[in-house]
Amino acid sequence: MAKQKKCNNPISANANRDARWARRLARARQQVEAPKLVVEGHLTRMVGLTMEAVGCHAAVGARCLVEGPDGEDIEAEVVGFSGEKLFLMPTGRMQGIVPNARVIPTDRVYDVAVGNMLLGRVLDGAGNPLDGKGPICATERVPISARAINPLARHPICEKLDVGIRAINALLSVGRGQRMGLFAGSGVGKSVLLGMMTRYTNADVIVVGLIGERGREVKEFIENILGDEGMARAVVVASPADDAPVLRLHGANLATRIAEYFRDQGLNVLLLMDSLTRYAQAQREVALAIGEPPATKGYPPSVFAKIPQLVERAGNGDTGGGSITAFYTVLTEGDDQQDPIADAARAILDGHVVLSRELAEAGHYPAIDVEASISRAMTEITTPEHQEAARRFKQWYSLYRQNRDLISVGAYQPGSDALVDEAMGMFPHLTEFLRQGIHEPVGLADSINALETLQQIELVSPAQVAALQGGMPQQTLPVGANPYAK
Ligand SMILES: Nc1ncnc2c1ncn2[C@@H]1O[C@H](COP(=O)(O)OP(=O)(O)OP(=O)(O)O)[C@@H](O)[C@H]1O
Ligand SMILES: [Mg+2]
Repeated sequence: MAKQKKCNNPISANANRDARWARRLARARQQVEAPKLVVEGHLTRMVGLTMEAVGCHAAVGARCLVEGPDGEDIEAEVVGFSGEKLFLMPTGRMQGIVPNARVIPTDRVYDVAVGNMLLGRVLDGAGNPLDGKGPICATERVPISARAINPLARHPICEKLDVGIRAINALLSVGRGQRMGLFAGSGVGKSVLLGMMTRYTNADVIVVGLIGERGREVKEFIENILGDEGMARAVVVASPADDAPVLRLHGANLATRIAEYFRDQGLNVLLLMDSLTRYAQAQREVALAIGEPPATKGYPPSVFAKIPQLVERAGNGDTGGGSITAFYTVLTEGDDQQDPIADAARAILDGHVVLSRELAEAGHYPAIDVEASISRAMTEITTPEHQEAARRFKQWYSLYRQNRDLISVGAYQPGSDALVDEAMGMFPHLTEFLRQGIHEPVGLADSINALETLQQIELVSPAQVAALQGGMPQQTLPVGANPYAK
């Protein structure tokens, strides 16, 4: 048998010897390694929700335990520092904290259990089950922080997602991996619309983040709006308004992390976040409490940095072929579309659906304002015929609304403008098309067919329109109903 050849190369022999030594040293280091030194500190000040600690060493974002009453520890997160002082904010209740309380930094990271057993479950902002269905038994846990995706490695948006809403499917087509905003004032139908999408979409998994909304609404949303049908393939993360601001921020990150997990499994995920404004407000609470100066409408600059960090995590992935299509609701205070959060969201999102209070008040649901809404991915995912049909729809709709005042007071003479006549004739059909009942799903193909059918409608002549309008009953108040009438 040939004897093993001795290594004659002195450089490679040295390298082998070095590698052997490195391995031996690493083994020896493991054996003699002392437990990590934890430097504990103590609280010196507490104002509002912010605690100041000295004497301990922890990084921003680290978890610390503050000694509470009866030896029960209260968890807090490092949100900033100044010189030797650490600023901490609690993630839960903070009753009973005393001056000089011990502060113990921990090396635990914020993580969440992931896996298919999450489907049908409701979690709080810290990832604990809220639904009383027992603990979540998972073998895998992942940190809730973001995994950066190289923008060049992301798959482009090229496939439509059926959201089950006729007006959105046909006029504001949403692509898999698109991030949309749902802009509306309070009580205009955001939650109902999100619930409809959850039940009727053809996404594989739905992750719902209920951030900073009323606690009462969480149960209502799960039981009445989502129902058993919606819950079967949904995961809900609820962090209502009475949760600590840090926990609300975690809730939004947690929902996004769960969506990212399912996306990385190759699934098409629909992420619904209600609301992005409450997320921004939670960050405003944290930033103002540690002394960041307010900039626009009381929002400190860090808020405008946090929104893109959260939103950019949604979208198409780089591996596995999955996608996160996301809808973020944005509360427009007093129906003000120029709200700084609305502005920031509009700039970063791939489109927005605006809900109009005027339509909701008239009982027109879903109250989608098709003139003000836009889907920026529509041209990439729809056929030219579909785009042309949607363009004609919007043109009719817009033309009628521009002339509505003239038409309603009888100042418009039918026949004076052929396009306005056409819009007048089409308007009842357009309104009918846009309306959809809560329990009525409309698939993608049906929505597009309905839009095409609209183009083939034979219009009534201006003379008939005039006759129709003349015959319409005038609304009058009963005698004596108006006390100001002379
Ligand atoms: N498609 C619909 N059909 C019939 N009624 C609807 C529809 N959508 C919304 N509504 C009515 O509008 C009400 C308010 O809707 P919703 O709770 O979704 O509003 P919201 O914008 O989420 O409010 P908030 O800002 O308070 O969270 C509902 O209780 C319901 O009566
Ligand atoms: Mg709501």
